[in-house]
Amino acid sequence: MDIIYASNPESVGQVAARLIAREILVKPDLVLGLATGSTPIPTYRYLVRLFGEGLISFAKVRTFNLDEYVGLSSTHSQSYAYFMNEHLWGKVDLPRCNADIPSGTAPDIQAECQRYETAIKNAGGIDLQILGLGPNGHIGFNEPSHDLAIRTHLVDLTEATINANARFFDNAGEVPRQAITMGVGTIMQARKILLIVTGDKKRDILQQSLFGPVIPEVPASILRFHPYLTVVTDINLTSACP
Ligand code: F6R
Repeated sequence: MDIIYASNPESVGQVAARLIAREILVKPDLVLGLATGSTPIPTYRYLVRLFGEGLISFAKVRTFNLDEYVGLSSTHSQSYAYFMNEHLWGKVDLPRCNADIPSGTAPDIQAECQRYETAIKNAGGIDLQILGLGPNGHIGFNEPSHDLAIRTHLVDLTEATINANARFFDNAGEVPRQAITMGVGTIMQARKILLIVTGDKKRDILQQSLFGPVIPEVPASILRFHPYLTVVTDINLTSACP
């Protein structure tokens, strides 16, 4: 595990974007796993800048998002498809048909989960997966639990996640109660993982994830078993839990 410290969320975004850009330069047809949420916004902004400066192209890149809310169409302003379009897809030369994300309005959710797994497999697997960290330790929408689902699946969001994400909606009542998410097995099969975490309020959960016991109650702790995990953060960590 490599931990790269940066001084603030903007610098974290710059560092993360450069790491992603390097992967695209080495492999122009990179299969890139994307995350939404507030943490990667600066990263996407710098990627768009690097594209604008002619340094990278997404023309051959394929992307797979971690998750999507059930019940929200891609045109809903709080859907993750809409978010991606606003922050990355719509601002670079990524062919829209190369950007995949679970459909939150699929009539058969189980079939949609299966379709997504097959699409990832057919793309040759994910080369680099970007992750944020939920305040409760979730990755994607793999919530703290007694066991973790391996593949893309339907998940009931916890009250903690609904409350944390209510900031994007008019009120908590509008936050969807379910989502489709990649499972931890799908995430762990990515060849490289880039975990981006900013803000002091995530200090304890990041500390537990990286240095506490590996337990399903802290889903991100499983990332420690990944052979190629890079963490970019503005949080100063102590190297072990007390
Ligand atoms: C988003 C996702 C989530 C977020 C996490 C952190 O696609 O999968 O796991 O990465 O909830 O969200 P922010 O960055 O808003 O704190």
